Amino acid sequence: MGNELCVASPSLALIKYWGKKKTIANLPATSSLAVTLGGLETETQVRLGPKDFVLLDGRVQDPERFRPFFDHLRRRLKTDQHFQVRTWNNFPSAAGLASSSSGFAALTCAAVRATSRTLSPEALSELARFGSASASRAVFGGFVLLPAGARRAQALLPAEHWPELRILVAVVSENAKSVSSRTAMALSRENSPYYPAWIRSSRKLVPEAVSALKRRDIEALGKMVRLSYSRMHAVMLASDPPLTYWISGTLAVLQACERLRKQGTGVWETMDAGPQVKILCLDADVPQIKRVLSEQNEGLRIIEAYPGSAPRFVSRKRNEMLYA
Ligand code: PMV
Repeated sequence: MGNELCVASPSLALIKYWGKKKTIANLPATSSLAVTLGGLETETQVRLGPKDFVLLDGRVQDPERFRPFFDHLRRRLKTDQHFQVRTWNNFPSAAGLASSSSGFAALTCAAVRATSRTLSPEALSELARFGSASASRAVFGGFVLLPAGARRAQALLPAEHWPELRILVAVVSENAKSVSSRTAMALSRENSPYYPAWIRSSRKLVPEAVSALKRRDIEALGKMVRLSYSRMHAVMLASDPPLTYWISGTLAVLQACERLRKQGTGVWETMDAGPQVKILCLDADVPQIKRVLSEQNEGLRIIEAYPGSAPRFVSRKRNEMLYA
C-alpha cells in the first residue's frame, strides 16, 4: 500500500449543474450530464497520520476547504484517524478545468482504501459529493448523470459507447480563477434575477441531451451543450456584482468555433467557472480544429481528451520535490 496512488480523471459537465439545493451537503439544484475526461489525471496518495493535511502539486492547501469533507468521512467510516494527502494534477489546478471533481474523487477512493474499507462506487459517489458535487460524477467512467437533488451520481453509458468523441481543452489561461465555483454559485442563487429561470429551463436540457448521446448525434447533443453553458454564464453575468470568467482569449476561441461551425465542422463548445473553453468534436475533425485554433491564437495550449475510465489504483513512487 506504501506507493499506491489513486488516479482519477475530471468530470466535464455537458449539461451543467449550477446552484445548490442544500449548501453544506452539496445537493445540486439542477441535473447534470457529464463525461469523464480521459487524458487529464489527478494522482493521489493517502496515508493515515496524526493530523489532516493536503499537499497539491507540492503546495499546502487551506485546511478549512477540506475539514467538512474529512469530518464527514470520519463519521461515515466510524474512524478517528486522520488523512495525510499528497496529490498532483497533470493539468492546471483551480483554473476551471474541473480539478475539484477529479481531486475529491481520487481523495475519496484513496482515503477509503487507506482505512482498509471497501465501498461500492455508489457509496463512494455519495461521499465524494461532500467534497464537491461534480466529484460524485468523477467516481464513474464514461457518461454520467447527477440528477437534481440526488445524493449520488449514476453511470449512464460506458466510455466505449462513443470512442470517436473528443474533447479539446483550450487552455487560454494557466492562472487559478479569482472566484471559486462555490462562491460564484452562492452569489448566483442569492441575487441573480435569472436564477429561477435557469433552474426552470435546465429541466428540459438533460432528457434531450441524453437521447442525443444515446444516438451519438453530435449536432443534437452539441446544441444542448451550448445552451447549457451559455445560460449558466448568463445567470452569473446578471449577479450583483456580475461574475465574468471570460477573458479575451476565451472570446477568440469561441469565435473560431463559430467560424468552423459555419463551414460545416461539428464543434460544440462549453465552459465552466473559468476562462477555458472545452470543445466537443469527433476524432476525424481534430487536426483541422487544432490547426484553425492555433493559427488564430498563437501559442494556445490544447489538451486532447476522450471519454475516460473510472478511478483506478496504480503502484508508483513519486518524488514530491519534482512537483513543488
Ligand atoms: O462541483 P463543483 O463545485 O466543482 O462545481 C462544478 C460547477 C461546474 O463545473 C461549472 C458545472 C458542473 O456541473 O461541473
